[in-house]
Amino acid sequence: MSKNKNNKPVWTSRINQKNTSTFQKLGSSLNIDKRLFREDILASIAHVEMLEKQKIISLSVKNKIIWGLKKILNEIVKKKFIFDLKNEDIHMSIEKRLFEILGDDAGFIHTARSRNDQVLADLKIWLKNSTYDIIGELNKTMKIFLKSAEKNVDTIMPGFTHLKNAQPISFAHYLTAYIEMFLRDKKRFQNNLENLNENPLGSAALSGTSFNIDRFYTTKKLNFKKPTGNSIDTVADRDFVCDFLYSVSLCSIHISRFSEEFIIWNSDVFNLINLNDKIVTGSSIMPQKKNPDPLEYLRGKSGTVLGNLISMITILKGLPLSYFKDLQDDKELVFSSFDHIKNCLRILREVLSNFTPNKKRMLELSKIGHTTSTDLADFIVRDLNYPFRKAYSITAKIVNLAEKKDKTITELSLDEIRSIDKKIGSDVLKVINIKNSVNSKKSYGGTSFDNIKKMIKKYKKEIND
Ligand code: ARG
Repeated sequence: MSKNKNNKPVWTSRINQKNTSTFQKLGSSLNIDKRLFREDILASIAHVEMLEKQKIISLSVKNKIIWGLKKILNEIVKKKFIFDLKNEDIHMSIEKRLFEILGDDAGFIHTARSRNDQVLADLKIWLKNSTYDIIGELNKTMKIFLKSAEKNVDTIMPGFTHLKNAQPISFAHYLTAYIEMFLRDKKRFQNNLENLNENPLGSAALSGTSFNIDRFYTTKKLNFKKPTGNSIDTVADRDFVCDFLYSVSLCSIHISRFSEEFIIWNSDVFNLINLNDKIVTGSSIMPQKKNPDPLEYLRGKSGTVLGNLISMITILKGLPLSYFKDLQDDKELVFSSFDHIKNCLRILREVLSNFTPNKKRMLELSKIGHTTSTDLADFIVRDLNYPFRKAYSITAKIVNLAEKKDKTITELSLDEIRSIDKKIGSDVLKVINIKNSVNSKKSYGGTSFDNIKKMIKKYKKEIND
């Protein structure tokens, strides 16, 4: 093993000239992957324990290395560790420091291992923990959504299709739609754990190793479920990175859709919600302005996060097996998406805790646009035993009549309604009432108040699972 003297890379016995300083700077990933120091040390400890168990290194060397690694951990945590960009990445930095502490014995650490499997072990451990972290953030966020939903079961607003008033709904029904999305996000992150639980360590550079290693031992030590099955695939694989970036992207898209809706609803035209002063910003020139910047931040960040996913997939496209430097960018993308989604979920919770629905306006708006026309058609089907299409056409005529009289259908008298079909029963007036309409949607998953109350109970349980 080379002595790693004078701050030189380990490969100086082969490569005679120093890298150009431009490449040294640009090729180093240390500033990004130093975030993996804990995982790197943890995996190295498991690795040398395995080497000793397999009698590949001696007990005294193992103990020395573990002692050295723990010392380095402490130095990094206490910010006494010097990160030097001449060391390409966190793995080389730690190995180099180990040499300084232990001398030549440090060289045993890299027996039967390559940075190619080492970096994957570190990243998978990091991603597993971060996945649990995001699941926790999602749970917290869903709880805030539920709190708001509980307060708004009987708050009626228009439901939209094509951004046109469609049918009246409970505001809580809208809010719990996002619970469904976040529950799916949670499941997506949970599903990712299966691949993250395959241990790459022991695949070495790409073909495995001639040492008699025990990959099942490091698997157990590092809380993986099983070793990966093909060493070439292992060091080339970044599917688990794409899975993570995709899961973050979709979650972020959900947040972005919500943000866009709230931006629209907060507009002076819609005026369906009020954001309190804690979550608005002013204008440098227009003294009256209160802008919904946090929501715009959330919507914007979904673009960055989606970009990270596209970057990773594009890096992989056409990349032959197995390891290439191209892959080094995976960590920057993963860390960026992780940081963004954590911040976004936090900001989203703050938005939800700092707005009030404009209930009066919501109700008023839900009456505009003949939003109970479908209820009217359904009533005619039941009352007169007409096929739905016939009832639909009669209802359309009633809507036209209302429009001609500059009224909504709920403002028409019974006589006016009967002028289109005299057989229509008097119960029609109850049926087209906005509140009754909401409450009549008792089909599973529908917007009736009782349904929503039941669903809120169900969600509360599911969030804690
Ligand atoms: N810093 C490198 C990365 O993250 C580690 C792997 C280096 N392997 C190699 N064969 N150069 O991709």
